Amino acid sequence: MEAAKKEKISVDDEAVDKNIFKDCSNIAFYRRQKKQLSKKSTCRAVLDSFTTGKDSTSFQIINEATKIPLLAEVYGLEGNIFRLKINEESPLKPRYEVRDVLTSKLSTVRLISCSGAKGSLVLADGKGDLKFHVTADPFKVDLVSEEDIVMSVNSLGQLYFEHLQISPKQRATKENEDDASVDTSQQENQNDMGLWEEKFGKFVDIKANGPASIGLDFSLHGFEHLYGIPQHAESHQLKNTGDGDAYRLYNLDVYGYKIHDKMGIYGSVPYLLAHKLGRTLGIFWLNASETLVEVNTEPTVEYTLTQMGSVAAKQKVRSRADVHWMSESGIIDVFLLMGPTPSDVFRQYSHLTGTQAMPPLFSLGYHQCRWNYEDEQDVKAVDAGFDEHDIPYDVMWLDIEHTEGKRYFTWDKKRFPNPKRMQELLRSKKRKLVVISDPHVKVDPDYSVYAKAKEQGFFVRNREGGDLEGVCWPGLCSYLDFTNPKVREWYSGLFAFPVYQGSTDILFIWNDMNEPSVFRGPELTMQKNAIHHGNWEHRELHNIYGFYQQMATAEGLIRRSKGKERPFVLTRSFFAGSQKYGAVWTGDNRSDWSYLKISIPMLLTLSVTGISFCGADVGGFIGNPEAELLVRWYQAGAYQPFFRGHATMKTKRREPWLFGEEHTQLIRDAIRERYALLPYWYSLFYRAHKTAEPIMRPLWVEFPNELETFGIEDEYMLGSALLVHPVTEPKAAVVDVFLPGSDEVWYDSKTFAHWEGACTVKIPVALDTIPVFQRGGSVVAVKTTVGKSTGWMTESPYGLRVALSSQGSAVSELYLDDGHSFQYCHQNQFLNRKFLFCSGVLINSCADERGRYPSKCVVEQILVLGLRKQPSSVTTHSSGEESSHSYLIICSCKHRHISREEMISPKADAMCLPQAQLTRAFWWSQAY
Ligand code: GLC
Repeated sequence: MEAAKKEKISVDDEAVDKNIFKDCSNIAFYRRQKKQLSKKSTCRAVLDSFTTGKDSTSFQIINEATKIPLLAEVYGLEGNIFRLKINEESPLKPRYEVRDVLTSKLSTVRLISCSGAKGSLVLADGKGDLKFHVTADPFKVDLVSEEDIVMSVNSLGQLYFEHLQISPKQRATKENEDDASVDTSQQENQNDMGLWEEKFGKFVDIKANGPASIGLDFSLHGFEHLYGIPQHAESHQLKNTGDGDAYRLYNLDVYGYKIHDKMGIYGSVPYLLAHKLGRTLGIFWLNASETLVEVNTEPTVEYTLTQMGSVAAKQKVRSRADVHWMSESGIIDVFLLMGPTPSDVFRQYSHLTGTQAMPPLFSLGYHQCRWNYEDEQDVKAVDAGFDEHDIPYDVMWLDIEHTEGKRYFTWDKKRFPNPKRMQELLRSKKRKLVVISDPHVKVDPDYSVYAKAKEQGFFVRNREGGDLEGVCWPGLCSYLDFTNPKVREWYSGLFAFPVYQGSTDILFIWNDMNEPSVFRGPELTMQKNAIHHGNWEHRELHNIYGFYQQMATAEGLIRRSKGKERPFVLTRSFFAGSQKYGAVWTGDNRSDWSYLKISIPMLLTLSVTGISFCGADVGGFIGNPEAELLVRWYQAGAYQPFFRGHATMKTKRREPWLFGEEHTQLIRDAIRERYALLPYWYSLFYRAHKTAEPIMRPLWVEFPNELETFGIEDEYMLGSALLVHPVTEPKAAVVDVFLPGSDEVWYDSKTFAHWEGACTVKIPVALDTIPVFQRGGSVVAVKTTVGKSTGWMTESPYGLRVALSSQGSAVSELYLDDGHSFQYCHQNQFLNRKFLFCSGVLINSCADERGRYPSKCVVEQILVLGLRKQPSSVTTHSSGEESSHSYLIICSCKHRHISREEMISPKADAMCLPQAQLTRAFWWSQAY
């Protein structure tokens, strides 16, 4: 057991050992596809085979070389989505299709076939302007919008399908076998091509089903900017992949992963977005096996044509992006999200995979983690440290050492003799506890979790049919088969209070090592020929294993509360749709400036692929950050959705107060800034949950018509109101901030200085500067006092930061509810208020009449930025009526002059209402 730990820790300071992990040249299906595709055999669609069913249109595709028919099905889905499924028409046995990711609500639109030119067929949904144009020979599809080809499928002829075959062994025994049905080309150089067996180092992958890989290409016309397909420690905008290079989607435990690398790390979302002026698209490749994505963008070029006599003519060749997907097995099941706007694409993707779960409010506070907090005393001391230093925090975390020998759901009796007592202490501070629960189970017949799982056959099996055993933290382990619904049901039952001894309702869960991590396995993960429920090989579903664990855990937390309380579950591994179950973090990063910097594009990529609740370990997990780096990391983390400090075992303690008073103050300020903004954060989460708007937004999402924003990744929008440009360089004295939008005005959130948009400004920074800018036209709700944790702030007053647009107006919505239960959706127990500032009047009205929630909160401070004149008087007015338009705050220039003392703001064009005038504004208690 200790050996296992050492095995991992010993690499602490070393670079990632590339020999442990594959690159493209080690991946047999990649080599096979490359080789076969170079032979350029074509596919043709059989037009006579077209049949239109209730939901879909299907037709045959024949590969000229193999002659084996494929069956294609085309679906039109509500809201500008096409789905193309391609499978073998009659496979030797069923091929794996991903379950449990698509929401059950998918509604299809009947596609009507219209006549196309000879040799082609056009399908249209009869509603929009979109057409699905199939050309028969060679087979290709063009997606056409208003006569413009937006995307082509298989225009490069990379449709690839390895048909399931009987193994050479079986064939040898069947002497009379008709060999004509076998693609003999696939059997050349058997060993090299890894058809039935593939070697990597000392590992041999024996493939019961032989080669089964698939592939397809997509050309995006006029596009140069591609995003998505996490997780890689790479830039937000995808880079071109050269020869022998591809973005790899294969969930792996890569301790201290290398940055600017396309190797797969902890999670995979096989979903890519493309953006150009006037259109955003998405390609969602629903496949959970190992996947490679090649990307090649050709920018727009102008050619001079000289062959036209003396007159030189110019021809513009439009830019194009080619995307080539390859997966080791399964079927082709691809969703083409036709936008046209970024928010349309986000909505379309959420129709398929769901939206971000609405988190409990506490989980938006600051989380304090370390591998490990040693014992109850340690927890008590750290908890007290936050109070002594007046630093708010919400959650204490316990890593693997809290258990009895890494047996999850147990407590180390010496270190944590009385877990309930410890939780009661945290509860009295209105704080929570998160503990870890990994998917591996220590092989120990006396451990009830192991014994019960073993008895019921709940572990992943090996090829021989026994329980698969591998090494992880506890030493020898077996792995729960979360793909089995019965296992998930049983596992979720383990969180019931009477079953999970020592747990209380303030305890929440962290799922780690769920790629799954297997220390001595190939690439530190599970062998691909392990067997899951339904007899599926691990290779079919590797990338979705962690998704299922988080799903079962979230379900368990909901069940233990009898369906009443929202869960909080953090997972390291994830797949498309994981957003429905909680939060994700970027794994084992390093205490280095470059990792702080890359956290921004990594989180932006997760955010545009639906996973809004994401964060990176503050301070860097591996290594010891110097005080300046730690401060900058807290400042950045305070403006990222999941905000947790974490550090590995060998590191020095780094609680926020251990770096001298000056740094304690800076960290305190950063965390307090986070807490002050909680109403804004919570409202953003509600929007993400309801309408799939990402929380952290790359600039191109908010400014889709501004080319300059498409490649920016050192700053981002938090919602639509705040632009954040974290400082990620040591000893920075100035940062260059790009403020987008020629019609926009931006206000520095501290100094209130303002700029017109579409310019880069040099912002001087000191160690206490977090460059944050509020967009003119927005109202940001804050809390004017910060408590020890979110729980202490329920009734603290609100402040409104009104930043006026160049037209002198501003608008926004504020959401609130009880912060923990499902009553907001089951009983409409929420408030959604709208603030509109126009012509000197700020109106607070109801934005959703269905919602009712009693709140005693008042608005005690209103700050208006961008008033042309200093107001002569400020009056408040309540209509005394219904929830809508219940309260008016009038700023007029006619009456009383506001004295200098009443102005909190240092700028003449900013105005802050004195507290006394507004404390009577019980606007939402009246509304109720
Ligand atoms: C993994 C996790 C890390 C955790 C450690 C021990 O390395 O990524 O966050 O602290 O395991 O559980």
